[in-house]
Amino acid sequence: MMRQAEIKQFGLDNLKVIEVPEPKEVGPTDVLVRLHAASLNYRDSLVVEGKYNPKFPLPLVPCSDGAGEVIQIGSQVTEWNVGDKVLLTFAPKWIAKEATHSEIRHTIGGPLPGTLRELAIVPETGLVKMPSHLTFEEGATLPCAALTAWSGLFQYSQLKPGEFVVVQGTGGVSIFALQFAKLMGAKVILTSSSDEKLDRGKSLGADFFINYKETKDWGKEVRRITNKVGADHIIEVGGAGTLEQSIAACRPFGVIHLIGILAGRSGELNLLPAVMNNLKIQGLVVGGRKAFIEMNQAIEQSGLKPVVDKVFPLENSVEAIQYLRSGSHFGKIVITI
Ligand SMILES: NC(=O)c1ccc[n+]([C@@H]2O[C@H](COP(=O)([O-])OP(=O)(O)OC[C@H]3O[C@@H](n4cnc5c(N)ncnc54)[C@H](OP(=O)(O)O)[C@@H]3O)[C@@H](O)[C@H]2O)c1
Repeated sequence: MMRQAEIKQFGLDNLKVIEVPEPKEVGPTDVLVRLHAASLNYRDSLVVEGKYNPKFPLPLVPCSDGAGEVIQIGSQVTEWNVGDKVLLTFAPKWIAKEATHSEIRHTIGGPLPGTLRELAIVPETGLVKMPSHLTFEEGATLPCAALTAWSGLFQYSQLKPGEFVVVQGTGGVSIFALQFAKLMGAKVILTSSSDEKLDRGKSLGADFFINYKETKDWGKEVRRITNKVGADHIIEVGGAGTLEQSIAACRPFGVIHLIGILAGRSGELNLLPAVMNNLKIQGLVVGGRKAFIEMNQAIEQSGLKPVVDKVFPLENSVEAIQYLRSGSHFGKIVITI
């Protein structure tokens, strides 16, 4: 038997750790992975509540990020060996830069079973090698949050040294965006609701700081910091509630990486300045396996360490999600399995 956390009905109170039979049928091109750590994304909280997609099949094992080791391989598997340390990919059929609708939607942690379980059978293409300097807890932070920031900055646009990047808030995606931007020699303008978190951002190399609760018109402040030019990239995790400020903060021909909707998914917006400034508003969701491998090479070469805020045991998965909802974290929240 093995342990897993699952919901039989939507609702955080329904998330329970149970014992289930171990998976047995490892197909010829499949790999059996013993998971050691998972990490939380904002999505997981929505999935558990049935707010991400109420049509996801139940029961469901939540969570999309996982790290573990290979313990068995199928007869035709060539890429993996027993003992390899691996990370699961969010969308196991998404390999290249572009993907079909079905490849994008075929994701773990809903509708496919997620990573809050001891054992998982994964197609061999649904894994990447974990950077060798990372622990399982650190590795587990990479599949969604890190790859989203990486795809935005390096797949769908090309961040260059010296450019200005506005990073909204200090959650999982945003802190990776900060770290990748500094790796590339860019200048980071970090925003947060908390002065204490802005201080922590300083230790990661952020260059300029705005408290978005105190400075509501922060787009103007970004223009001041950039000598009225505007920033080259905006990491947009707020969505409709922050987009007007992002448009005000962005230089002509700059890019707004539309990643999240923490401040609302719809609303009345003045989009004229986006038109008049030739802005690119790039929606994006995570990324493909090739980008993941590229990102891991950059992480390994640079020795970059993900920022893990707090680690919870599997039995405390409910508390971990409540902690995510509190918004008091800085970087990633991890669950050990
Ligand atoms: N498109 C994708 O592929 C993708 C992938 C991952 C995540 N996402 C989305 O991106 C968003 C962030 O995800 P996450 O996992 O990084 O979340 P998270 O770790 O829970 O981040 C939460 C943080 O976001 C900041 N924030 C909240 N409201 C804000 C606002 N109005 N303006 C600026 N910052 C704000 C806060 O930072 P402070 O406490 O510092 O204020 C908060 O602590 C979510 O909407 C998520 O669904 C999308």
